[in-house]
Amino acid sequence: MPETTAALPEPVCSSGDLQERGPAWVWDVTQYGQPVRAFAMRFDGVVVAYLNRCVHVPTEMDWQPGQFLDMDKRWILCSIHGAAYEPADGRCVGGPCGRGRLTPITVEESDGQVYWYPTRDIQPVSFDPSPVAPEPTPGSSTPSTPATPADGSPP
Ligand code: FES
Repeated sequence: MPETTAALPEPVCSSGDLQERGPAWVWDVTQYGQPVRAFAMRFDGVVVAYLNRCVHVPTEMDWQPGQFLDMDKRWILCSIHGAAYEPADGRCVGGPCGRGRLTPITVEESDGQVYWYPTRDIQPVSFDPSPVAPEPTPGSSTPSTPATPADGSPP
């Protein structure tokens, strides 16, 4: 049976953080449980977002943090080997990315805020605040005597 639970939108940034063809907003997500970055930018008035992962080699593409566009602010340009992508749809238009396409992230702009929608494969980073107890190693035993109090008195 297909998954029917709709993902709740996650906040990315405020609308004002994304200027037309300006620096992108970069944030952390997971893909298949592995950490990866995503980025959102405004292009022709529309907010678009992709994983920060080149199709040629799965590496981050920005030549400075949040800087993805070429000098003319027309193409997303990978800083490693120069693959060029169409900002509107992530399609490769030149370079070693072949006929590939950046992995899109669905975004929405509402009431001055930009949101993204997680999928089964791309999820928000979760922070587990509970400490993880160490696993007992085979053959080890739990100490049976309590620790000596700090004041040196017998336990
Ligand atoms: S890693 Fe992006 S073009 Fe080679």
